[in-house]
Amino acid sequence: MGWWLRIVVAVVVVVAAVEKPGWQPRFLGQTALKHAAFTEAYISEDETLDYLDRWTIYISTFDPFGGVDNVYRMRSPGRYLDDVASWQVEVMDNSAFWPNNPDYLPSSIGGAEGVIWSSGFLVPGKTEGQLQMYNTTKDPVLGPYNIASKDTLAWSYHRVVWKDMDVDGSTKHDLLWFENTGAGFSEGWPAHVVSSGGPDVHFALVTLSAGGRDYHCIVVGEFFNEKVSIYWTESETNDWTDLDLVKSRVINEKAGQVFDVLVDDFNRDGVLEFCATEFRTDLGVGQVTVYFFPDDFRTDEFPHLKIADGFRPNQVFGSPTMSPGTPKVYYPSKAYADDVAEDGLPHKPFLLVSGDDDGRKMTHGDFNGDGYEEVVVAGYTIGQLYVYTYAP
Ligand SMILES: *[C@@H]1O[C@H](CO)[C@@H](O)[C@H](O)[C@H]1NC(C)=O
Repeated sequence: MGWWLRIVVAVVVVVAAVEKPGWQPRFLGQTALKHAAFTEAYISEDETLDYLDRWTIYISTFDPFGGVDNVYRMRSPGRYLDDVASWQVEVMDNSAFWPNNPDYLPSSIGGAEGVIWSSGFLVPGKTEGQLQMYNTTKDPVLGPYNIASKDTLAWSYHRVVWKDMDVDGSTKHDLLWFENTGAGFSEGWPAHVVSSGGPDVHFALVTLSAGGRDYHCIVVGEFFNEKVSIYWTESETNDWTDLDLVKSRVINEKAGQVFDVLVDDFNRDGVLEFCATEFRTDLGVGQVTVYFFPDDFRTDEFPHLKIADGFRPNQVFGSPTMSPGTPKVYYPSKAYADDVAEDGLPHKPFLLVSGDDDGRKMTHGDFNGDGYEEVVVAGYTIGQLYVYTYAP
């Protein structure tokens, strides 16, 4: 009896060990950065570096007027959390019109780790987009190498995801995908179109089972058509080179302007979902919707659920505005991430949603390795970078 009771007590103690952290992190400080926009934080794959020096925050800036815009980086931010006002945020380059998201570039792509920065937007003078690779293992960085230098139209580029599109063992980019012929950091990669007319701003990759096989799928937000769609290939080997085998279908006909999509297991039940940030042009209000993958994504309806709304954008000169922007999933602390909920499943993560055209874009990371997440907010209109932490 006594033995049995001790076990029960021990279990109760474990469950109660980690309380759910409050949603709001603690303000650490701010520093001026004019037109601070898209921001991402990446931890280097180089484990020989000190943990604090593996982190870098990248920030794009864009001025609706004028020529090329600066992109910035802040190295080793975890060393300077006690004095954010003195941050020396350095200009990394000044060669792109309207830089968008800085995406991570693993060394497996080109032989060295780096970032690839997409650019271009629909405002006059800013439409000539690029996909610029930088080798960040060197200081100053090596580059840029514009892999889209052969494009003949004024494309705007928004996101790069690395994927093997023709199953030859090298990695590609879609929905326009760029063929990595093995030249690594180099200009002008051969471009291949997966689809024209529908997909525009953002997309996400997911593998789904249906009819006894796995399909490599692309969930796509169609900003201008105000739809959410899914693309896949009927190719037995998931090879995207034969366009006759590429299929698509609309998941939600009336999603609103879709800025971004993110695939994750948001409720941590072991099954993937995706969420979309959508702006209802009829209401002038933005929302976040979670979509559940049905048994057969090729034929079944996708049940969906609005989890947040009330997002209102600022007006930006000469361009369509919307809010919210990019969603990210994170745990406020390592202890909460490692803990289990009362049902024995992991705790549900927090969902961070950038405001986009309401002037706030965000990223996160445990920059100083204390087990608590930091959050960086780029305030575009006010020209400030704000830093928060979940550390007590
Ligand atoms: C990347 O930079 C390093 C220097 O840190 C250099 O040795 C290497 O050759 C570069 N790699 C490529 C592919 O440019």
